[in-house]
Amino acid sequence: MTDHLREQAARRIEQLQNQINLHNSRYYQFDDPIISDQEYDRLLRELEELEREYPELKTADSPTGRVGAEPLKAFAPVRHDVLMLSLDNALSDNELHAFDKRVRERLDLEEVEYVAEPKLDGLAVSVLYESGILVRAATRGDGQTGENVTANVRTIRSLPLQIRHKNIPERFEIRGEVFMPKEGFLALNARCQKKGEKQFANPRNAAAGGLRQLDPRITASRPLNFYCYGHGFFPADGLPESQQQLLQLLASWGLPICPELEVVRALQGCFANFIRLQEKRDQLDYVIDGVVYKVADFKQQERLGFVARAPRWAIARKFPAEEALTVVEAISVQVGRTGALTPVARLRAVQVGGVIVTNSTLHNAGEIRRKDVRSGDTVVVRRAGDVIPEIVRVVVDRRPPHSEPFEMPAKCPVCGSDADEIPGEAVIRCSGGLVCPAQHKETIKHFASRKAMDIEGLGDKLVSQLIERQFARNVADLYSLDADTLAGLDRMGRKSAQNLVAALETSKATTLSRFVYALGIRDVGEVTAQNLAENLGSLDAIMNASEERLMAVPDIGPVVARHVRLFFEQASNRTVTDELLAAGIRCQNPRLRHEGTPQPLRGKTFVLTGTLLSMTRDEAARKIKAAGGKINSSLSKKTDYLVIGADPGSKTEKALSLGVKTIHEEEFLNLIGSKGENTF
Ligand code: IVH
Repeated sequence: MTDHLREQAARRIEQLQNQINLHNSRYYQFDDPIISDQEYDRLLRELEELEREYPELKTADSPTGRVGAEPLKAFAPVRHDVLMLSLDNALSDNELHAFDKRVRERLDLEEVEYVAEPKLDGLAVSVLYESGILVRAATRGDGQTGENVTANVRTIRSLPLQIRHKNIPERFEIRGEVFMPKEGFLALNARCQKKGEKQFANPRNAAAGGLRQLDPRITASRPLNFYCYGHGFFPADGLPESQQQLLQLLASWGLPICPELEVVRALQGCFANFIRLQEKRDQLDYVIDGVVYKVADFKQQERLGFVARAPRWAIARKFPAEEALTVVEAISVQVGRTGALTPVARLRAVQVGGVIVTNSTLHNAGEIRRKDVRSGDTVVVRRAGDVIPEIVRVVVDRRPPHSEPFEMPAKCPVCGSDADEIPGEAVIRCSGGLVCPAQHKETIKHFASRKAMDIEGLGDKLVSQLIERQFARNVADLYSLDADTLAGLDRMGRKSAQNLVAALETSKATTLSRFVYALGIRDVGEVTAQNLAENLGSLDAIMNASEERLMAVPDIGPVVARHVRLFFEQASNRTVTDELLAAGIRCQNPRLRHEGTPQPLRGKTFVLTGTLLSMTRDEAARKIKAAGGKINSSLSKKTDYLVIGADPGSKTEKALSLGVKTIHEEEFLNLIGSKGENTF
């Protein structure tokens, strides 16, 4: 083994680590990956092999540490040096008022400052760092003894395996919540469904299932995330004065904290914050089941102390219950774009988790049989982890007499064509194709939707009228509509008609991936359309590609390849595509995958504070721009990142109050791909 080879390996290892870290942040922080899963796996495998060959070159923070170690037989117990406490709940404004009163009386203060943090619905975990390295992670267990889940927690990509910050304590423990973001949860359930496996009831269960896996490789495949909200063991001389300062400090070391924190004054501040978060909770990408109010000042916290298993200085104000009882008024069957018949329960309107629910999908015939939901039944409805309302179970005791099990219809309820049960598929499909107005309508709505051709003003009712009057036999007909014809339709003014014609005109200049997605080919979603566009480069190439060629595109397997080929083989689809092009649609062809330099920070704005150690501000600005980002001097809600250098100013605090993500230099270098050779 020559020194030369070893040097070469060291360089390649560093390069691979930087690339993988960059892709991790594209995937986990920006939700905008720039390579396929296969390409990512290739990089990771190469790094694993090199590290196996040169174990001495493997660093503590290598991204391979996240892939998942060998399975365990059982979790070892971990005794918590500092107890892991739980929280008291306040279920009403009155109870929150009583909490604030107790706090003020004990502290002998008129008014108290609180830190308001979303109550994340996941699992509490304690993470120990020694010499900057993540050495141990444990669940809460009974508060005194938890389980050692280090190998699993190491797979959580937002949590640094090594903190390379100068001024960190030699040993410290952070506490926080492991959770599964809503989007990841939905994708995981979709994968389970596809594989015929059991789905998770909500993101919390999915997170718990992921964290408590004896095989960390399974955990690694689950989209878990983590936010810090406190500390366990922490040297007294390193502890700041308040909760907000602690979280700020942890964030400046690169530890993830929840961006929705707010420092509030007195009970009024808590109330206002509670209303704000209740309104915002549906837009958040993670489930929260309430808000935690913590006395901000650590000295005050200490004076208040604990009672039983919960601190006197914090309380969880919970959102209203997430389950409710209601009655199934009817079960109807919807017909989707691909003809799939979906049974839907029409419910007597009910509030669940602050939202009114009137419908709940029953998915398919199998699901309806399993739950045996019938018209007239009283059912328990839950918003599954805040995401989709679902019927949990029937209250059989309240079932009206003489009710009958629901049967899926043998004919399409919209066009009367036969409904076919397809062997091996859970769904039943209408065989009517475009003869079926429901499929026809959904096809047009999909074509016009925001992520497809983005034609504003083409709503549900209007599409129905266009089909009824035979103005839209297919999607290409839309481009022959004129303002006079449109203005003659029900509830259509001249101005809206003109706007729609203008929107149709604007939609003609589009991209290849949008156009391919808009065509509504089975199983071709946005990502697949983008892959097709980027890998084949032109509509012609996609239309004429063989199944083998299609399967060479990342993420396209035999089923999708077959659907694409069948779609373009069908003469009617070719005709519509030609008509669309003849109507003036122009697709901008993408740059092929291997051409040019992608811009991974496209549209992201940065603000710097403090001094960077590895480059000047001008250099940093140049690198941000080269990667497609922007640099500003002042912070606003629109800033994506505050980069914290040495001796940062007051911007850190401001970023926290604005909910702007803060990153330290290490993470920044990863983002711009500036450690080692820049190869993205
Ligand atoms: S503080 C001593 N902060 O809620 C204080 N807990 O019901 C201990 N939780 O076990 C917890 N978000 O799993 C705290 N921002 C937050 C939280 C939070 C979620 C969970 C945590 C805890 C449970 C208590």
